[in-house]
Amino acid sequence: MRPFVVAANWKMHKSPREAVDFLKGFLPKVSDRPKNREIIFFVPAVDLWVTQEVLRNSGVGWGAQNCHFEMKGAFTGETSPQVLAEMATPFCLVGHSERRALFHETDEETGKKVKALHQSRITPMLCVGETLSERESGKTNDVIVRQLKAGLRDRDPSQKVMIAYEPVWAIGTGKVATPEQANEAHVTLRKALIDIGGPEFATHTPILYGGSVKPENSAEIARQKEVDGFLVGGASLEIASFLPLCQTRKET
Ligand code: 13P
Repeated sequence: MRPFVVAANWKMHKSPREAVDFLKGFLPKVSDRPKNREIIFFVPAVDLWVTQEVLRNSGVGWGAQNCHFEMKGAFTGETSPQVLAEMATPFCLVGHSERRALFHETDEETGKKVKALHQSRITPMLCVGETLSERESGKTNDVIVRQLKAGLRDRDPSQKVMIAYEPVWAIGTGKVATPEQANEAHVTLRKALIDIGGPEFATHTPILYGGSVKPENSAEIARQKEVDGFLVGGASLEIASFLPLCQTRKET
């Protein structure tokens, strides 16, 4: 059975001190959570060290929000996957729409990053999603399948990946995909995962939904058959709004 994964993407929020305060306050509150529930915090790179100190052996995971696809070199300001591995980082986001739109990350680069992360024994969470104009011109499925295939092109089939479907028009806008829109995209992605790695791979790969997930809409989204969790931006910044998301039941 796939786990239900609730992941926080803190983006460029929280200093190391704020991260520690948050996580120390959060951990005792999730000791009692639904079974088969995975919780992950994608924190700013500068918070990774203190985050792993607090979360190590807690049953709650953590990860980086980005990395370079080379292990070392003249890439000022970038983070090496090898260094992430040395810091015992279990997960890393790849291809978040903000990386694609604001930092011009290409499909090809996402593929190289997934490969480099697998070489470093880190599980990538590959983000895919269409813009509003792509949705309105009927290109949603083409775009997300293209992003998925490019991102997973050079993965190591013996290692895990996670996928996050994040429609760009729903990120930070308060607009949330309808549960049906989300499920339809997830069905498309699941089928594409079968093409890429076969039914076993597709069955075991969680596909999270991201885009304005909040306590008020999480139950309805979680009810969709193909939704295996949430990737949460704004609502992950406060314990009061993130905790109920971590406790959301997956009713099947
Ligand atoms: P919001 O939850 O703020 O819409 O952000 C979603 C997101 O980008 C998570 O990666």
